[in-house]
Amino acid sequence: MGGSSFLIQISLLLCIFFVTTQSFSFSFHGFNNQNITSDKETVINPSNGAIMLTNSAPNVIGHAFYRDPIPMFNTTLNRYNSFSTQFVFQINPSNGIDGGYGLAFTLSQSPQFPGAAAGHYMGVFNESNNGSSTNHVLMVEFDTVNGYDEGVDSDGNHVGINLNQINSNATKTAELYLQKASPIRAWIDFDGIKKQVSVTVARADKPKPNETLMKSDENLNLSTVLLNDMYAGFSAATGADKWSSHYILGWSFRLNGVADDLDSSRLPSLPVTDSPSSNNNYSKLMKTALTAALSVVLVIAAASLIGILMYRRWTKYEVLEEWELDSPHRFRYKELYDATKGFRDSEKIGSGGFGAVYRGVLSSTGVEIAVKKITSNNPLQGMREFAAEIESLGKLRHKNLVHLQGWCKRKNDLLLVYDYVPNGSLDSLLYNPNSGIVLSWEQRFNIIKGVASGLLYLHEDWEQVVIHRDVKSSNVLIDGDMSPRLGDFGLARLYDHGKNSHTTHVVGTIGYIAPELTRTGKASTSTDVFAYGILLLEIACGRAAVVCEAHQNAILVDWVVECMQMGSAFDAVDARMDSVYVVEEMELVLGLGLLCSHPKKEMRPTMRQVVRYLNGDEILPLLERLSFDGSRRVDEVTARLLELGLVDRINYSTDSYHLDVSMGVMSSTSFDVAGR
Ligand SMILES: *[C@@H]1O[C@H](CO)[C@@H](O)[C@H](O)[C@H]1NC(C)=O
Ligand SMILES: *[C@@H]1O[C@H](CO)[C@@H](O)[C@H](O)[C@H]1NC(C)=O
Ligand SMILES: *[C@@H]1O[C@H](CO)[C@@H](O)[C@H](O)[C@H]1NC(C)=O
Ligand SMILES: *[C@@H]1O[C@H](CO)[C@@H](O)[C@H](O)[C@H]1NC(C)=O
Repeated sequence: MGGSSFLIQISLLLCIFFVTTQSFSFSFHGFNNQNITSDKETVINPSNGAIMLTNSAPNVIGHAFYRDPIPMFNTTLNRYNSFSTQFVFQINPSNGIDGGYGLAFTLSQSPQFPGAAAGHYMGVFNESNNGSSTNHVLMVEFDTVNGYDEGVDSDGNHVGINLNQINSNATKTAELYLQKASPIRAWIDFDGIKKQVSVTVARADKPKPNETLMKSDENLNLSTVLLNDMYAGFSAATGADKWSSHYILGWSFRLNGVADDLDSSRLPSLPVTDSPSSNNNYSKLMKTALTAALSVVLVIAAASLIGILMYRRWTKYEVLEEWELDSPHRFRYKELYDATKGFRDSEKIGSGGFGAVYRGVLSSTGVEIAVKKITSNNPLQGMREFAAEIESLGKLRHKNLVHLQGWCKRKNDLLLVYDYVPNGSLDSLLYNPNSGIVLSWEQRFNIIKGVASGLLYLHEDWEQVVIHRDVKSSNVLIDGDMSPRLGDFGLARLYDHGKNSHTTHVVGTIGYIAPELTRTGKASTSTDVFAYGILLLEIACGRAAVVCEAHQNAILVDWVVECMQMGSAFDAVDARMDSVYVVEEMELVLGLGLLCSHPKKEMRPTMRQVVRYLNGDEILPLLERLSFDGSRRVDEVTARLLELGLVDRINYSTDSYHLDVSMGVMSSTSFDVAGR
């Protein structure tokens, strides 16, 4: 009795020893039919050694999984095992640019998915079981088609972490263009302690970047996702409208450790061009159809030739450089040309400092866009860095910024694609006598706060400081709900790009340029604050920064100060508001406008302070009521006013020890002060 229980104990111990010392791992540089199971359209091709998950045919599905299940739950540790995996994939889109729907690293209860749908469902889920807790699927998708549900996965070319459903728990735009028809390496790490998935992506010949592309939340609830044993592998699908060939070239995996590094020189290499497999019904069908239609096509082709040639004169061939394929935000010229009806004048909605703006509708999605067309005198140079900069501006997301969706270049033209903002620019709403619109104070104050919040995001809240360089009312666009969106940020710098660096080019708009900018040519966050100050005065006064009228003071700031000195700064307020405004808010805006546009840059607040003043979290120093009790000395008062930046605006008579101060911005007040 005792002997046998001793033996059982020993064998248990041995078993634990065996289990705890042997970590589960594998690695494949290319594949043969060993140890991988596949189904549906997937072909493991021993001649080139790659797994072809799907070929380029519509609505096909493929799976390739490691033969044995992987022990995910660790009874010794009483938690999930960590794992790390690395694989190299390649997606060859059928028409060179625009395929679908992507592939996914998949952990599931079974390597088969009966009833699963193609397209967005990636051959793993279908309409009825999507989201079901009986699925037991954790997948990391490399999705090449715009999102499954609008607004959530709205960016095509994204990576997503999906738990039991195709809607992602977390998603991120892939920094690389996934369908680039060349090998891409992905690293997926699961931390069993934190219960967190992280994903890193790079070109296959590059080392692992230090920065992960994305991480899921920590402490994922995996109770309905991971079972004790899970199969690991890949799934892919094509759709009715878009298809690509999806390949896996190499794969390594390790439980509780780092997966082997795949040596890119030992991986199979695939042709860059896509070769649809010949033994599928789709291509057979296509061949028959093609043969039958050939004669008809020939006739039509001949007839169309002249037409095509003429059309080409207009749209031209788009010659893409290799790096351009890596830019997820690049649009095709033809798409933009069609969207704007060939940049027709009737679609023109404005013309700014850099070029004309056209309204357009993308035929693929029906989404409205605004396209800015910048034409340079010379063919565009240094486009690669230029594009990198645009790509980075495209990552800026804030509700008070006009989102830069992407770009396109052709010869001397640079096209920038923005969200379409329906109500046009602030200047046209503020002082276009024909518009018949008078913005209420509530709307104006809301616009003032919104622009401040957008500018603060550019200055301080994003990963790098972005100087707008051209804050002005015509760059503030007004959304359908009357909230403001600041446009054209960072553009001035792009515009300067490639110019001879010896010629300092001061960018900005007359009336908004801070004095030190004209001297040094150096834009900074405080030159933006200066321009913002002018904008505040514009909104309050309903007047342009510079007016060309003989009988009025042409410079807005001077005019406001003049009103102040003549009696009251409130006299400068836009008369069209019929004096309907909140006095304290107006006082704050006028004071803040003057302080921001102070000629000395040290006096200007930062955008963070501006936001605090506007939210009432801090009191604007100008509005602190100074108490002159008659005992103060002139120089003491002057010093305080100097400190507040009002020194230019003091009138005092030394004889009578009488000081005329533009008190708290609003009105001239006289104070008797003790002798000097
Ligand atoms: C449990 O975790 C330990 C420590 O990471 C590991 O060595 C062991 O192989 C794991 N056991 C199983 C059954 O996965
Ligand atoms: C397949 O698995 C067996 C063990 O199960 C191993 O000996 C063999 O090397 C594996 N083959 C490949 C290609 O990884
Ligand atoms: C969805 O998939 C499940 C199994 O995963 C299958 O039983 C069901 O029939 C499928 N539904 C449809 C509508 O295809
Ligand atoms: C995890 O999900 C399961 C099933 O949806 C639920 O019963 C459980 O309460 C969840 N656990 C936590 C910690 O949220």
